Amino acid sequence: MSGPSIAVIGAGAFGTRHLAAYQSIGTPVRNLVEPDAATRERVAAEYGVARTYASVADLLAAGAPQAASVCVPGPAHRAVAVALLDAGVPVLVEKPLAATVTDAAAIVAAAERTRVLCQPGHILRHSPPHRALHDAIRAGRVGDVLAVSSRRDRPRTLSRLFPREHPALLTAVHDIDLAVWYAGAPVVEVRAAARTRPGSVTPVLVWAELRHANDVVSSLRNSYLLPEHTPNHTSDLVEVYGTDGVAHVDLSHPTLLVRGEPTEAPDWLLSPVDGGGALAAELRHFLGRIDGTQPTAVVPLADGLHVVRVAEAMVDSATAGGAVRRIPQTPHS
Ligand SMILES: NC(=O)c1ccc[n+]([C@@H]2O[C@H](COP(=O)([O-])OP(=O)(O)OC[C@H]3O[C@@H](n4cnc5c(N)ncnc54)[C@H](O)[C@@H]3O)[C@@H](O)[C@H]2O)c1
Repeated sequence: MSGPSIAVIGAGAFGTRHLAAYQSIGTPVRNLVEPDAATRERVAAEYGVARTYASVADLLAAGAPQAASVCVPGPAHRAVAVALLDAGVPVLVEKPLAATVTDAAAIVAAAERTRVLCQPGHILRHSPPHRALHDAIRAGRVGDVLAVSSRRDRPRTLSRLFPREHPALLTAVHDIDLAVWYAGAPVVEVRAAARTRPGSVTPVLVWAELRHANDVVSSLRNSYLLPEHTPNHTSDLVEVYGTDGVAHVDLSHPTLLVRGEPTEAPDWLLSPVDGGGALAAELRHFLGRIDGTQPTAVVPLADGLHVVRVAEAMVDSATAGGAVRRIPQTPHS
């Protein structure tokens, strides 16, 4: 088989999307790491992965792959990413870069120490509508950016599937990353509120106001309040206000919406089940960064750390009743 030897770490919901997307760009995955034996064997058979391992240590003992997608839960990102970087393996780390600022900073330190590529998996920067909006902004079509507003509603299912993950780190990281990208400047100040509902341990709603270094203001709203199994992406909206106009990406009208039981709206944009979409574009960029055909990072590693810093400040501000939290501006902020 030709092409680089790729490993996918974690064969869960998104790891399988990576497998399908690599396949769709003609770079089938040769190695799969998954501790759960039944999942490992089922997914390897489905995607024709030749070599399977129960741990990253086993994978590395058998020989380092040429690249890896890290698709394990956030709290495991640090151990997996640092082990791969230390072995010289370029990594695409799914969003968020890590579950805490401490872990994210450790990943950045490992990438700097080893000088090995680490790409934060902020997929929306690879999504055609968001790229088009970003291009329009950078071309000055709405003048100077004044404000960014975004809405991301998800079904209650998310609170059930991820009972301990705060929405700031689970989903709002997408909006923080887009706000930083569209504003063209890091966040310096955060104020947030979060609400829970009976039976949920973590919040089901988080609202935040961000101020960027260039005085752009961003307003982010995430909720997990839609009926169970409502398809994702059926409410996503990002608006950008500039001195000369307003522009938006509105995904709340999916191309196909079947309002039956269950309601269905196939994802054709981000990570379609049969591959392609923004995820395939992101993986192509990752491989291009490795072989040198993509000289410029779409998502600089420092932005991955900055997003986690802002998300953690949102959690902290909300816990403190909306107190303003300042984001330290370091070279890696
Ligand atoms: N970019 C996006 O839009 C998007 C969407 C969904 C998930 N994600 C991210 O993808 C990652 C995985 O999420 P998911 O929904 O697939 O989770 P999941 O729970 O469905 O799957 C995670 C898998 O990783 C395995 N795993 C756990 N620890 C491991 C380890 N040390 N080594 C190897 N495998 C390990 C688990 O057994 C499980 O099968 C998370 O970081 C998540 O935030 C990103």
